[in-house]
Amino acid sequence: MTQAVDTLILGAGAAGMMCAAHSGGRTLVIDHARAPGEKIRISGGGRCNFTNLHTAPENFLSRNPHFCKSALARYTQWDVIDLVGRHGIAWHEKTLGQLFCDGRSTQIVGMLVDEMRRAGAELWLSTQLADLSHDGDRFHATLEREGAQQAITARNLVLATGGKSIPGMGATGMACDIAQRFGHALTETRPALVPLTFSDAPFAALSGTALPVRASCGGAAFEEAALFTHRGLSGPAILQISSYWREGDGIALDLDPGGTLYDDLRAERQRHGRRNFTTALSQHLPARLVTNLAPALDLSGNLADQSDARLGQIVGALRDWRLKPTGSEGYRTAEVMLGGIDTAGLSSATMESRHLPGLYAIGEAVDVTGWLGGYNFQWAWASGHAAGQAI
Ligand code: FDA
Repeated sequence: MTQAVDTLILGAGAAGMMCAAHSGGRTLVIDHARAPGEKIRISGGGRCNFTNLHTAPENFLSRNPHFCKSALARYTQWDVIDLVGRHGIAWHEKTLGQLFCDGRSTQIVGMLVDEMRRAGAELWLSTQLADLSHDGDRFHATLEREGAQQAITARNLVLATGGKSIPGMGATGMACDIAQRFGHALTETRPALVPLTFSDAPFAALSGTALPVRASCGGAAFEEAALFTHRGLSGPAILQISSYWREGDGIALDLDPGGTLYDDLRAERQRHGRRNFTTALSQHLPARLVTNLAPALDLSGNLADQSDARLGQIVGALRDWRLKPTGSEGYRTAEVMLGGIDTAGLSSATMESRHLPGLYAIGEAVDVTGWLGGYNFQWAWASGHAAGQAI
């Protein structure tokens, strides 16, 4: 027998559950996974970086940088902090405004399931969408659950199946595919917040070495840690810059982001002129990195052998180290998908389709991608809230 609901939400992730918690009428949320909010569970190293104190529209990439403003303004980081507080979830600020749970990220999943149930929404897990159509008035979906098929009709359909990152966890491009079927354009999608790779693995010997840098590419710059890996570069500064990097681009690393190295080396030359130059540099940079760079930079001799001009030249090279990644680790390890459903087809106030009333798209599936640091969850909460309020 066909069941009629007001709203069918595809995806019980961060955005879908938030939407269900705020939507009125009869709501059914489905997910093909066995548990809701699996990405929340693994996020932030198991402690979920659930928002960022400094959230502002500038922290998001989109073809239309204004699109995210309305939703972010109506459900802010302070609303999230209030919600988390009401559920008794303790949290702390790590760095750069990033808020993490003191305990486990499953507390955030539990909070959303509670909120959803309080709003009267039903949750069907291990459920697949087998068929979907629209008759000009309502959506008709065929769902497969526990080996049986169930027909559903719904006035509203919310696309909340997220992006394509980590397909091993069940990520799919379903939201984009359905949006496209109903007349929506997509912007280019690609892995983002992802380690960058080099085909010749030049840093394999440095794998595990980390240091603070300023990484720049495509007009953006981030001052955080970088990490050398077997395949290339990772760490927060690199993940951030990966959202701006395109195949063929170079990136620049400033290995002295504080800008004190030149003066420090000159002062040391005065006090310890007989100190080997590489030994002196190793006081400021990881020794393995200095050894790796020594041949290219010709770091021979003692400190006393280095003129001001020579020190300036070396420090200049360390502050503008040009590298050309050949690729990225792809969706296998990317934290997010950049791009998605073009915002031109959506209302920024409600996330409703401009092509088909009753169709909504929220969360990572939409062409709004946050920086690393809790911004992507903030977008999921804010866009889910905007759609839920409108329904
Ligand atoms: P989300 O991916 O959360 O949910 C989509 C849901 O749809 C899933 O439950 C999935 O099973 C379901 N689904 C997908 N395809 C389906 C289909 N075909 N049929 C049925 N169901 C389907 N962000 C942040 O702000 N702070 C952080 O700490 C982290 N950490 C982090 C770590 C790792 C390892 C990753 C991969 C990602 C992060 N992120 C993050 C990013 C963050 O997890 C992400 O942006 C949000 O979860 C997006 O929320 P959505 O609800 O849009 O998708």
